[in-house]
Amino acid sequence: MVVLVGASGSGKSTWARERFRAAEIVSSDELRGIAGSGPNDLDASDDAFALLEQIVDARLGRRLTTVVDTLGLDPVRRARWLQVARAAGLPAVAVVLATSPVMCKRRNSDRDRPVPAPVLAGQLKRAAQVAAELAGEGWDEVIEVVSAAQPQQPPAAPAAETNRDGFEIILQISRFPWGDDPARWLTEIALAADQAGFAGIALMDHLIQIPQVGRAWEPIPEPWVTLGLLAGLDTGLRLGTLVSPITFRPPGITAKAIGTLSALTGGRAFLGIGAGWWEREHQAFGLPFPAPAERLDALAAAIETIRALTAKGTKAFNGKRVTLPETTCYPRGDVEIIVGGGGERRTLRIAAELADGCNVPSDLATVDRKIEVLRRHCAEVGRDPAEVAVTVLDLPVIGSDRDDTWARVEKLRGRTPAATFAARHHAGTVTEHRARYAELAARGVRTVFLSLPDLADADDVSRLAALTQPF
Ligand code: UTP
Ligand code: MG
Repeated sequence: MVVLVGASGSGKSTWARERFRAAEIVSSDELRGIAGSGPNDLDASDDAFALLEQIVDARLGRRLTTVVDTLGLDPVRRARWLQVARAAGLPAVAVVLATSPVMCKRRNSDRDRPVPAPVLAGQLKRAAQVAAELAGEGWDEVIEVVSAAQPQQPPAAPAAETNRDGFEIILQISRFPWGDDPARWLTEIALAADQAGFAGIALMDHLIQIPQVGRAWEPIPEPWVTLGLLAGLDTGLRLGTLVSPITFRPPGITAKAIGTLSALTGGRAFLGIGAGWWEREHQAFGLPFPAPAERLDALAAAIETIRALTAKGTKAFNGKRVTLPETTCYPRGDVEIIVGGGGERRTLRIAAELADGCNVPSDLATVDRKIEVLRRHCAEVGRDPAEVAVTVLDLPVIGSDRDDTWARVEKLRGRTPAATFAARHHAGTVTEHRARYAELAARGVRTVFLSLPDLADADDVSRLAALTQPF
């Protein structure tokens, strides 16, 4: 919640308009124009403020960004808004337009219907006292706008100790709205991703489209076949899955597939691998779906097998979990193995012990916690944490501006409350996502797997080029 504070003509409405969507700004003047004859219809003030309070309550109750555009000089009203924001768990910011009295008076006299001079003088007197009041009211932040001129630049990405060395963004494709020419759609997406500076493409590996992404009858192609098509394109993209359930294929067959992909791409292959979680697709395809503990055992064993079959040489393999009389598997080549999955006790342990990386959700609090747990596992199994890359799966809603971002949220959210959906998908502009990625990089995240909830065609990829530029 943002509460504007300042005398008439101080530039409150202008400041708000330059930064927020029209629907986010609740203005007593505009409501006078709706309940009354126009913004200056003082007889409509009571009705306008009753509406304003109701709208503020409704929006804050839904945790929607709300900018309260009134004079903001009444401490009783301010206290109420603050309390409503607190009850909704929202941060509350007061923005004081500290425009000089001379300027306010000049702007006022330029108006079609100026505020009477004594009224403005009274406001200016109140405005001079308000900073001291605000300091004791408990705002999360009080921002003083000295010159209401230009919107400030969006917050710059933290520059210190953030370099882009090694940080990469891989496009994860989870939906395939490819119309009647799948190969062409995939080709165009891949070329656009390469052009836009993405480091690679990852394909989701499911037998039926998962409900989190789409409907069961939407196409979800077999990834190794599809990666074969992408491998034939002239790009430098790294290619792989995120993630392949070990329940789908015997691990030796996955080793064969990934070894082949590595050979075809000159070593650009990676394998995201997990224990599998969706019972329905296993049942539908006649695949066993053992209990979680058994699947996690199988995950660890699968990584051992794949490592043995993709490492150099053909000698017998005697691992902790797997014994093979020989490891003759050609072609073979370097393969990065990334373990995905939500578990911390066993999944991250397996990553710490056996994998080249782990994959975790992208919100900062979760990333912090997972890195902590991963470090502990690494210490316990005697692995250098630097050898286990931290990667995240990010599902961002990315708009060209605030309006476009919100339109996308409204289109995609289904029945999820908009504020919840927006927070879950970090809804924002490219600039805002860049700043977030810079924070992830500063925390040691090496790879963002970026999956667009509204990927439709190659243009959706091309418009993200700024995301991959240096911080
Ligand atoms: P606003 O209409 O934004 O002021 O600007 P306000 O604080 O919301 O005023 P009230 O309380 O609703 O009456 C007043 C005038 O000043 C100009 C605007 O274009 C408008 O005509 N202005 C504002 C500037 O010229 N520069 C600015 O930086 C801000
Ligand atoms: Mg105004």
